[in-house]
Amino acid sequence: MSEAIEIDIADLPGVGPATKAKLESGGITSILDLAASTTNELVDNLNITEETAHNLVFEAQKILKDKGILEKDLISANELFARRAKMLRCTTFSQNLDTLLAGGIETQAVTEFYGEYGSGKTQICHTVCVASQLPVDQKGLGGAALYIDTESTFRPERVAQIAKSRDLDVSSVLDNIHVAKIYNASHLELIVRAMGSLIQQNNIKLVIVDSIISLHRAEFLGRGSLSERQQKLNAIMHRLKRISEIYNVAVIITNQVQATPDTFFGDPTKAAGGNIIGHASTYRIYLRKAGQERKAIMIDSPMHPYGDTNFVVTESGISDPMDKKPARTVRTASKSAIEKDEEEEN
Ligand code: GTP
Ligand code: MG
Repeated sequence: MSEAIEIDIADLPGVGPATKAKLESGGITSILDLAASTTNELVDNLNITEETAHNLVFEAQKILKDKGILEKDLISANELFARRAKMLRCTTFSQNLDTLLAGGIETQAVTEFYGEYGSGKTQICHTVCVASQLPVDQKGLGGAALYIDTESTFRPERVAQIAKSRDLDVSSVLDNIHVAKIYNASHLELIVRAMGSLIQQNNIKLVIVDSIISLHRAEFLGRGSLSERQQKLNAIMHRLKRISEIYNVAVIITNQVQATPDTFFGDPTKAAGGNIIGHASTYRIYLRKAGQERKAIMIDSPMHPYGDTNFVVTESGISDPMDKKPARTVRTASKSAIEKDEEEEN
């Protein structure tokens, strides 16, 4: 990756000092930042033509593809295999959840947790930003975490409690979590655009966005602004996905649920944000309360079987229920795990 970093944006064809300055004013300071951008994003933010924007992104991506940092348009399964071999998995401190995730939270992927209030989304985020700091041979990612907090629910005390209960050095764990408190939708868009250099400067291996949608949901109200909201969310999701691949980092996003009163079977809730978030997330896990425990259900994944498992929230973050029931990974041919679950409980 270092070779690509050494290439100056001004070395790209068609980029003079003026364009370089424009890009920098929009937070794009490297080829990597540019490659993670979308054409629309550049047109909207930098006041350049669509053709110029398209060419810039194309050239930047081409360099990264040539250097093997970004996936080529056509890649052999062998190359893909080698690329995925670099992928790391981070424990969640719950064996059950790790099993559901086939080993933990992956780098080069966006993992989405969605569920109603109190279902444990923020608790998972707090726990994983501690776990990710463990060395790779202890199922961590061996790096720092970037915690993007849009709901003002990040609590350093909670992180300290989790770290202490796991005999980790509290001060160094806290030092390695970089928190960005975000107050409005455009602020979120800005930090996502500037994320590339933050990751490089701080050895970030885990990016958390808790939550991805709350600010856009609050600011873009009504049907009239829906398409604008979706376009903005799309740009954020697209960039997060690219960033996970370019920098080999794990990205966790949390999402809210919305009621779907017309549902006859199963849980009458679904993830907010529609297809935009669903399609861009590599893995989607639905969380819900199950008595004192929490249930996690793998809803969408290109490789995991459809399954569910239970975990608990304790002072040491999230962990397995005391009875240590083995993780269940149910595969049902005709019914979703949610439907099956409802039936069991009825
Ligand atoms: P929203 O952000 O409101 O949508 O919910 P969320 O899914 O992020 O919920 P969160 O992860 O914040 O879960 C909150 C729940 O975790 C609380 O209702 C508590 O049950 C539990 N919890 C939080 N902190 C602790 C703790 O220190 N010990 C224990 N045992 N449980 C805790
Ligand atoms: Mg929360």
